[in-house]
Amino acid sequence: MYVCNCNGIRERQVRAAIEAGATRPAEVFQAHGCKVRCARCVCEMREMIDQSREAFRYAAE
Ligand code: FES
Repeated sequence: MYVCNCNGIRERQVRAAIEAGATRPAEVFQAHGCKVRCARCVCEMREMIDQSREAFRYAAE
C-alpha cells in the first residue's frame, strides 16, 4: 500500500526509514531521495512515527 502517492513511497518503505532512524516525515522523504510535494501523506507518516515510538517505549518497559 502506498503512503505517499506523489513519490511512490510504500508503507514498508516508510517503516524501513523509521527503523533506520527517521523521526520526522522530512527524514522519511530524505531516506528515499525525494521531497514533500502535496503533503497529504505527512499526517499518516507522523502517525506511523508516533506508533513506532509508542511500541518502542512499551517494549522498553
Ligand atoms: S502524497 Fe506524499 S507528498 Fe503528496
